Amino acid sequence: MIYIVPDFQNPTGITMSYQNRVRLLEIAIKNRIIILEDDPYSKLRLNGEKMESFYQISREKFKNKDVVIAVRSFSKIIGPGLRCGYVLADRETIAYMNSWLQKELNTTDRISQRIVAAFLNSNYLPKQLEKIRKTYAPLRDQMIASLNNWMPEGVTWTEPEGGMFVWVTLPTAINSDRLFDKAITEKVAFLPGSKFYPKNHEKFNGMRLNFTYPTREQIRIGVKRLAKVVTDNK
Ligand SMILES: Cc1ncc(COP(=O)(O)O)c(C=O)c1O
Repeated sequence: MIYIVPDFQNPTGITMSYQNRVRLLEIAIKNRIIILEDDPYSKLRLNGEKMESFYQISREKFKNKDVVIAVRSFSKIIGPGLRCGYVLADRETIAYMNSWLQKELNTTDRISQRIVAAFLNSNYLPKQLEKIRKTYAPLRDQMIASLNNWMPEGVTWTEPEGGMFVWVTLPTAINSDRLFDKAITEKVAFLPGSKFYPKNHEKFNGMRLNFTYPTREQIRIGVKRLAKVVTDNK
């Protein structure tokens, strides 16, 4: 199975191009490999053109109903604690997944499912999406502007069109695990990039920054302080 997060991926915020989606689907179909499309973020698009999902492309362009299993989540668009989502796949696959889920969890949390169902039935989701996109866009813009303002030469970052994260790449000599200890003394936290690699294959010069929780002012001050810590440790 190929596991992918094609839209505003966690941790980099990167979105896979249409051409690469088609190419990967061709490879998967030819080699009879299932693609698991994990998509909690695509509805958090803040600008740019909406991208067709693997699920859509596989069905519409390739007329293939088996190659993609899509999993979607309400956690990032209704409430982070919900841990409630759904699967798009053929019935037989869903029945297998359901049977396995019962082994893992015994039963899923029905209270959050009922909350989500009531929310969707009341048609609150479109308004909620509009609201969170309006809230997040200036925060993302502030983070990019602050990185541009304060980060020293040699530091680069992604400029995501949505999602929640910006991925910063530091010069390879800087270890972000160590940088973290210094940053928190300045009251700035981030997720060190090493946490996203398999054990013993870590790279240490990445940082995941979240722009959806802090205020614009906190982002401005936080990035300025973080840039100083980076500069002092170059
Ligand atoms: C790529 C990805 N998939 C899934 C999840 C979790 O989704 P859920 O809250 O529905 O378990 C997250 C983050 O929490 C994520 O970043």
